[in-house]
Amino acid sequence: MKKIIIINGPNLNLLGKREPDIYGSLTFIEFFETIKLKYPSVTLEHFQSNIEGEIIDKIQEAGFSFDGIILNAAAYTHTSVGIGDAVAAIETPVVEVHISNTFKREEFRHHSYIAPNAKGVIVGFGLQSYELAVTSFI
Ligand code: DQA
Repeated sequence: MKKIIIINGPNLNLLGKREPDIYGSLTFIEFFETIKLKYPSVTLEHFQSNIEGEIIDKIQEAGFSFDGIILNAAAYTHTSVGIGDAVAAIETPVVEVHISNTFKREEFRHHSYIAPNAKGVIVGFGLQSYELAVTSFI
């Protein structure tokens, strides 16, 4: 069975409550339970942290043992050389995802430190961005 982990960065623990016009009204856990049931052929794990170093630790840990990483580094996407370097350092392919279409938003959201080392990028499909990333690994 393929092992895939979704790693979510800062403020994504507030999904469902946070700016629902941009990020929707479902909590991540509600959504995660539905995709786990929908794709029983893969082992899906989920990790969230608001702390940059914890995200780097998790990328390093999963990066030599999982078959895929789905990474929404949230605001750190646009700021973190360290997370970009972690993605470059590991063996596991990383799909970068964003819920909102970051290219339709402020200029500072247009740049990603992750994209140059990602297998691919999925942007702007709401929570379905994560599901499209899961199917890319199947
Ligand atoms: C986000 C987009 C980022 O610009 C923002 O900082 C987030 C969420 C998204 O999924 O749309 O927190 O990564």
